[in-house]
Amino acid sequence: MASSKKVLLGVTGSIAAYRALDVARLLRQDGNDVQMVATRSALRFFPRLNGEVFTGHPVYSELFDSNGGGVRHIELADRSHLLLVAPASADFIAKLSIGLADDLLSTICLAVTCPIVIAPAMEEKMYFHPAIQAHLETLRSRGVHEIPPEKGSLASGKEGVGRLQSPERIRKEVRHLLNMSDCWSGIRVLISAGPTYEPIDAVRFLGNRSSGKMGYALAESALSRGAVVTIVSGPTSLPVPIGARVFQIETAREMEETMCREFPSHDLCIMAAAVADYRIQSPSGAKRKKDGTDWAISLTENPDILAGLSRKKKPGQFLVGFAAETDMDSSLLIGKSRRKGVDILLANDVSRPGIGFSSDENDLTLVTPLGEVLPLGRNTKRILAGQALDEIRRRWKSVEDGS
Ligand code: CTP
Repeated sequence: MASSKKVLLGVTGSIAAYRALDVARLLRQDGNDVQMVATRSALRFFPRLNGEVFTGHPVYSELFDSNGGGVRHIELADRSHLLLVAPASADFIAKLSIGLADDLLSTICLAVTCPIVIAPAMEEKMYFHPAIQAHLETLRSRGVHEIPPEKGSLASGKEGVGRLQSPERIRKEVRHLLNMSDCWSGIRVLISAGPTYEPIDAVRFLGNRSSGKMGYALAESALSRGAVVTIVSGPTSLPVPIGARVFQIETAREMEETMCREFPSHDLCIMAAAVADYRIQSPSGAKRKKDGTDWAISLTENPDILAGLSRKKKPGQFLVGFAAETDMDSSLLIGKSRRKGVDILLANDVSRPGIGFSSDENDLTLVTPLGEVLPLGRNTKRILAGQALDEIRRRWKSVEDGS
């Protein structure tokens, strides 16, 4: 499976550093041109010459040296299709998270525009340390793809999670990401996320329990695949994914206006927002005071944004909706996908504890108007987002290819 892509392989100081040689060998077997950049501490674990033999290129480690002109970190950053750091040490992960640039590899990381993949390797206690987990979370929110370490025997002799993934598994992930970034590069994705708030008076509103996590996870996954991403977001406390264009809205009608305006300039639209179905008929501009009587509020139906977009859809555009259900009956879901005019409906069961609204996990079932029902299963929203995008792209491509 020759891909002839330029892969920059960063190697950091870890006992697993020598396994990067195997990673380089496998990536080259796939037809990739592999350029290694090793930190000074990585080179304490294997001789530079071995890296040069396994990649067929000089191994760089210094930001400044006397050989040749040019700005090495920019040259290396510009020519790469993917930057893989394997193994990624705790120190390197912290550096990347805060944007420190004190050696060649960390400087390149700030200069690349291609996808970044990291394969951490360290002792279990270090990997699960809240500081490292927080850094990994930050990196994910920037679209950095992690190949998590596996369980096995560690440098300390203990068993635990922290062992660098096998070079074979790393090769498969890189293959997948290179194929994916080919499929997604330059594709314009519009994602709605979070709840909408419908004002009752100056201080009260009608809302729902959506946290926006599913929509933001989809945005991060699309960014890490090389897509151009726009988010139309209801109120959330989530950090804005780096690289996305974000429009913050509050009400369903504001969301409708922004989605309708942005829709024509996007290729794929995913309505992950939990749009309030009703709004207050006559919200008060002032705060309503208590007066000892009951308060009856009249609600009026909001526009169905998704159904409206499906009517505006042009050939080549692909539309995905979500369904929050307490009854996951397949025929009801297929009926909903047809009614909404979507190409794919991603349904989740909101009646089950621990998944769905506000939670970090979800359980998605992909449904198409043609009657296909594919359970993606229960997983973190981040992993499900990646799986959903792969499934979306596969079906969308077969529509494009006419198969
Ligand atoms: N949706 C929308 N506009 C609305 C309501 C929902 O665009 N006013 C979108 C959601 O973003 C989601 C899909 O429609 O992608 C399905 O939402 P869901 O709440 O499951 O369905 P409803 O249309 O509200 O229908 P019901 O709750 O009655 O099943």
